[in-house]
Amino acid sequence: MALLTMQVFRTTCVCAGSLVKSVHLSDSPSPLPSGVGLAHGDVGGADAIMNTNYKGPLRMTEAFVGLIDPKEGRIVNTSSGVASMWLREQDAATKALYTNPDITQEQLDEDLKKQQAAGNLGMGAGYGLSKAGLTTLTMIQAKKYPNLMVTSLSPGFIDTPMTKGFGAKLSPEQGCISSIKCLLGEVTRGSYYGSDGLRSPLTCTRDPRMPEYKGEADPDPKVYNN
Ligand SMILES: NC(=O)c1ccc[n+]([C@@H]2O[C@H](COP(=O)([O-])OP(=O)(O)OC[C@H]3O[C@@H](n4cnc5c(N)ncnc54)[C@H](OP(=O)(O)O)[C@@H]3O)[C@@H](O)[C@H]2O)c1
Repeated sequence: MALLTMQVFRTTCVCAGSLVKSVHLSDSPSPLPSGVGLAHGDVGGADAIMNTNYKGPLRMTEAFVGLIDPKEGRIVNTSSGVASMWLREQDAATKALYTNPDITQEQLDEDLKKQQAAGNLGMGAGYGLSKAGLTTLTMIQAKKYPNLMVTSLSPGFIDTPMTKGFGAKLSPEQGCISSIKCLLGEVTRGSYYGSDGLRSPLTCTRDPRMPEYKGEADPDPKVYNN
């Protein structure tokens, strides 16, 4: 198995999703980790955040999916715990929509636009909404690419340039557990994995060391939170 890593231009990722700064290929590439991220939107606000965190991975995948080994390839979307923080606050219809494995791309795009227009942005002026969109996009991609293992994850609260000043204590190395699991381990297609590498619900949060989510329709927060 080989890893396809990519570094994209900011503008091309957002605007076209088809230009690559550098692509390192060896043998036939398998996993496509998609991990650009913008949390604050100092420039461009919610539009910039949605473009980077939701549309960026969508366009990246569409541009590069043909390079992934169809037999054992994987797509790993780097989402965040804020996805479930956003979704747990929504009404029943929205929770049902964002966890429906049969949701279409059009339905998701339309609802994200509606939520953004209503100012229902979640943490970080759109960061929450964008990551909720990305976890639901993961289910759409799992259905669209039935031969590929498509998952999403949270790395945890990690000390990186994006979280500078917010008090994150864990190192980037400590933030790799869920990535390694999703890239190489045994995982369930379309699912979301917490920072400890265990499958986690979307309509409530799950703390590390709590039981793994089994896929039940209405997860009980008491089971998954300390
Ligand atoms: N750190 C955490 O606590 C945490 C928690 C949950 C989820 N995440 C997610 O983890 C992923 C990696 O974030 P990180 O913490 O490692 O932050 P980071 O070190 O700041 O990396 C973010 C990366 O995204 C790139 N980027 C930002 N806007 C972009 C755009 N418009 N087009 C293309 N690339 C763009 C940045 O490029 P430049 O180098 O050019 O700035 C940078 O390489 C993100 O998806 C983030 O949301 C992080």
